[in-house]
Amino acid sequence: MIPLELSAVEPLGKLIARPWADVVTGMQVDSRRIEEGDLFVAVGGGEDFIEHALARGASAALVPTDDFAALAAIAGAVRDRSSARIVGITGSTGKTSTKDILFALCAPHRRTIANEGNYNTEIGVPLTICRIEEDTEICISELGMRGAGQIAWLASFVRPDVGVITNIGPAHLEFLGSIENIARAKAELIDGLPPGGIAVVPDEPLLEPYLTRSDITVKRVDASGPIPFETSYTSKHQVQNTLTAIAAAEVLEIPLPETLNVEFSKFREEERALPGDGVLLNDCYNANPVSMRAALEHFVVRAGDRRRVAVLGEMLELGPGAPEYHREIGAFVQELGIEHVIAVGELARDYGGDWVATAAEAAERLRTELRPGDAVLVKGSLGVGLAVVAENLTA
Ligand SMILES: Nc1ncnc2c1ncn2[C@@H]1O[C@H](COP(=O)(O)OP(=O)(O)OP(=O)(O)O)[C@@H](O)[C@H]1O
Ligand SMILES: [Mg+2]
Repeated sequence: MIPLELSAVEPLGKLIARPWADVVTGMQVDSRRIEEGDLFVAVGGGEDFIEHALARGASAALVPTDDFAALAAIAGAVRDRSSARIVGITGSTGKTSTKDILFALCAPHRRTIANEGNYNTEIGVPLTICRIEEDTEICISELGMRGAGQIAWLASFVRPDVGVITNIGPAHLEFLGSIENIARAKAELIDGLPPGGIAVVPDEPLLEPYLTRSDITVKRVDASGPIPFETSYTSKHQVQNTLTAIAAAEVLEIPLPETLNVEFSKFREEERALPGDGVLLNDCYNANPVSMRAALEHFVVRAGDRRRVAVLGEMLELGPGAPEYHREIGAFVQELGIEHVIAVGELARDYGGDWVATAAEAAERLRTELRPGDAVLVKGSLGVGLAVVAENLTA
């Protein structure tokens, strides 16, 4: 982190500082991650860990008056001291993937940092911004959205130069009520751009009402185009993410590679071999109607001639339209002719196939049904806890 004077932190709460410290050189909210010189911010009543943080070498600890406001202020102060180009990425699906791809494009050419894993909240985003060093040239930060105003808040201290929206779809619908409201919430990123900023957006009519600013440049991504290089991954839904990342890379004047190798964040379509040339696609980190369809399509292609067993968890946070979205997935599963479905969780009854209540039962069911050479997809909302199904299988 760019060294930050303690005087910038002091007004944010109760500050406990080493007598010799006048700056902090990192920020953490987990005392186990503290390195020499860091600031420990005791969010969520983490006062008990202050001693641990100081023992690990923290220069100071802060008990914030307001957790999110303090993290935002610290991140904002670091951002102010940086001349890096800051890229904010939001959208209904594909934020983390697009971040991973854009990082892979930028890192060989510029000193680049990007958020770890899925860090995209009021806590995760400040942690990313606080990794900016004096010589950082590009910082890529995913911005999550679970309700109106969240992107506006995150953008207020990230102050992105480039705002990327991957797509608009029915995710977190229960908090926003309609797809138009989702588009409006994502568009807070466009409002948050400075004059001269650049918006990279999908060809999406729902966003058009928000693209009227004359002091920014709007770059529309044509998601139908071919990818102009080889990639280490093949799934169809990564085409949109890749073309979006390419558009952002072009804005940043990054030359494109001949081949691109991307290390995707955890639980996104992790692939494992199973006995008898079987294959497991583990995609249990999130699920909404768009990503569920994409995962199923990819599964069918990847499975080839293998017998297909799909363990599908319910899709959470969809609001009153949830049953209909689940019925649609059920119809799609049938259309694809997937041989065996294990549906997990109440709403998942509409997927058809075998139904079980919990991830543990799904793991048990799968173990009895699985044959050598099968292709298995595990996909569902994080809250369904399907990670155990995949672990069970590969253990
Ligand atoms: N462009 C896309 N279109 C459809 N599905 C996609 C797309 N990109 C990713 N997915 C699917 O959505 C899942 C989540 O992808 P990713 O983690 O990149 O999204 P995210 O927007 O970061 O999600 P989160 O809201 O959890 O942060 C992937 O595992 C994949 O199955
Ligand atoms: Mg994400």
